[in-house]
Amino acid sequence: MRFTASVFGVLLAVTVSAAESVSIYHTNLASIYPQWIDLNKNGKLDDYENPMQPVVKRVADLMKRMTLEEKIGQLWQVDLQNDADQKHGDQLRQGEIGSFLGSSALIESPVMWNRLQRLAVEQSRLGIPLIFGHDVIHGFRTAFPIPLAQACAWEPALFEQTQAIAAREAAAAGIAWTFAPMVDLARDPRWGRIAEGFGEDPFLGALDAAASVRGFQGTNVAGPDRIVACLKHFVGYGAAEGGRDYNTTEISEYTLRNFYLPQFHAGVEAGALTLMSSFNCLSGFPASGTRHTLTDILRGEWKFPGFVVSDWESVSELVPHGVAADAAQAAHLGLTAGVDMEMASTTYHDTLKQQVEPGTISKKVLDEAVRRVLMVKFEKGLFDRPFTDEARCQTAYLQSDALALSRAAAAKACVLLKNENGALPLLPRASKIALIGPFAENAQELVGPWHSRAHQADLISLAEAVRQHLDAGAPLSVARGCPMLDSKAVKLPLDIDTFAPIQETPLGSNEIAEAVELAKAADVVVLALGEPLDWSGESASRTDLGLPGRQQELLDAVAAAGQPVVVILFNGRPLALTQVQSKAAAILEAWFPGTQGANGVADVLFGAVDPSGRLTTTFPRNVGQVPFHYNHFNTGRPGFGDYKGNYVDAPTTPLYPFGFGLAYTTFEFGPVALATNVIPRPGKISARVEIKNTGARAGTAVAELYLRALAAAAGPRPVRELKGFKKILLQPGETKAVNFELTAKELGYYDAKGNWLVEPGEYQLWLAADSASGDPAAFQISP
Ligand code: NOJ
Repeated sequence: MRFTASVFGVLLAVTVSAAESVSIYHTNLASIYPQWIDLNKNGKLDDYENPMQPVVKRVADLMKRMTLEEKIGQLWQVDLQNDADQKHGDQLRQGEIGSFLGSSALIESPVMWNRLQRLAVEQSRLGIPLIFGHDVIHGFRTAFPIPLAQACAWEPALFEQTQAIAAREAAAAGIAWTFAPMVDLARDPRWGRIAEGFGEDPFLGALDAAASVRGFQGTNVAGPDRIVACLKHFVGYGAAEGGRDYNTTEISEYTLRNFYLPQFHAGVEAGALTLMSSFNCLSGFPASGTRHTLTDILRGEWKFPGFVVSDWESVSELVPHGVAADAAQAAHLGLTAGVDMEMASTTYHDTLKQQVEPGTISKKVLDEAVRRVLMVKFEKGLFDRPFTDEARCQTAYLQSDALALSRAAAAKACVLLKNENGALPLLPRASKIALIGPFAENAQELVGPWHSRAHQADLISLAEAVRQHLDAGAPLSVARGCPMLDSKAVKLPLDIDTFAPIQETPLGSNEIAEAVELAKAADVVVLALGEPLDWSGESASRTDLGLPGRQQELLDAVAAAGQPVVVILFNGRPLALTQVQSKAAAILEAWFPGTQGANGVADVLFGAVDPSGRLTTTFPRNVGQVPFHYNHFNTGRPGFGDYKGNYVDAPTTPLYPFGFGLAYTTFEFGPVALATNVIPRPGKISARVEIKNTGARAGTAVAELYLRALAAAAGPRPVRELKGFKKILLQPGETKAVNFELTAKELGYYDAKGNWLVEPGEYQLWLAADSASGDPAAFQISP
């Protein structure tokens, strides 16, 4: 292969073997001499090969040279199989493939990627590099807490840090593009993919989305440790009927604009280079064929410069959706709506030529899609550095900063839901602890549903982590108590290394009774309960939000033994914890915390780290209350409080509201003080609250600012909506003032056409510990 360096206008030709081609990018010379690759092997530096040329010019030059078939090739993403280089060799030589996505163990090193890349770069006519994609959702080899858990840290910067490390590890494996962040708003915990997002709030979700994009892409996505981000799933996917995955959604334009779109918009503003179109039918038409969102809003209003990839076969699924008769119609709909690249299915590959040649699809539409894909490839630097150093991944994984962050993030994500009589933190020496439950010694489940390339051997169990906190010789008895699931379970857990179904040892005839004996002999019982990891995530909806299998029975029996019971929950969605709450002295929601998660959780259990997480999703009392979210509209008959509906068999309040979470100390929020009670439009108001640590330990309070507009002409505003928050550390007895300033950016909302309005009239503003507490101050925006 020929590499040519252009130094002060002099062209130096260097011929190296394919093997050397990997290392040439990593010599110091690379930073001194701009390099280029003679991709089309014509012996000269063409504009598209010239790294010194602007991307727009490079794309235009390349597109001039491309045949129709080569253009269509850029729009096809193929699923990686073990024999991909054999199976797709000819197609790669012909330039018929633009991208691969992979998920198997094959992608842990870049060997296969490089092999495919060589076919594309060295053996095709124009040498256009492939872009390799993979779902890097909450870590690559080092798993971080699931996104829903990380969101509970109320610290968007945490996403920036964890996703930067995920990007670093994935890039070492040759991955250039992640299908993350998932920014779908979710209000229904039956939906398993609630685990992958940030929760139910668009304000916090938008901050987390932007931070995730910055984490993956950095300030220069072409950097060797960076990967291209992909905002998904566009749009409305989280509102699936009945919480059933892939299902229909009906979302008014007003609600879409104010709740479902802001996270995408924030991600686009943060520079995300790709978006994924979703599976669901959105308000009467499949989202992957909806031009209004994919083009009018995304490109027209937001000026999104990148490309849209379909979700897995979501273009060919336009046929079973019932809006396209065949592959050709599906391709037509997808491409003209604004889906640039087709994932896995082949409707573009199979039919676009026949549709573009006669003009059924205009060349302009095709060119536009190709231009966007190429632009991202150039921005990522793939034309200049298409290969990955195969040695790098051997040292890139599980580095000490990654493990430390995995542990710290797990601790930050923990939400303390109940803590009666100071049951937590545990004392390392004073007490005899019985650690019971199907998650006590089970390390693999803690890694979470989209754990990418985590290995069992990397993980530690809660029992191991607890032992490390105990003084030498301190008593710890451990028992499973019961399996995670019972024999009726439809979906078995999968082994994360082999993907083989795990047959749990069935409940022993005396197993629960033996656990009760351990509990009786202990001073405190720690009960590790939850859901298997693959009971949340894709295609993992539930109709029941209780603990699976016999776990509640175990809790009831152990609690009857009379010792305080601390429940630690490992799960990917809000559970209905009414019965758990009635039996447990303390409940710590630990979610799926990742590789070092058990250590992070143990840090919180023993008080080495104070719990500071707050819920970003409502915990219902029972499954009949869902969908449930704090930022709902009022009814015309609200009754006597904020949220009095008409259930005759249960309260209409949640068990744990959005924003809720305890610390090991207590806080007192003073009254809200406003700088003024009347402000002119477009508006700016300062608010302040004093928070006092009234307990005996240091702790982190979260001041949450909620707003309500009482008369909004374009549509009702929620009974409360989050518009600001600050985390503050307070020493025992310490009081600190927390100040906020709201501007038109926070005071307004969207009408159904996407105009941002700040209404004159009455407002209420809370500075509170959660979405259900505190008293508001009133102010007015004058006309
Ligand atoms: C389908 C999922 O919906 C999507 O989130 C994911 O990125 C793709 N499969 C690729 O794995």
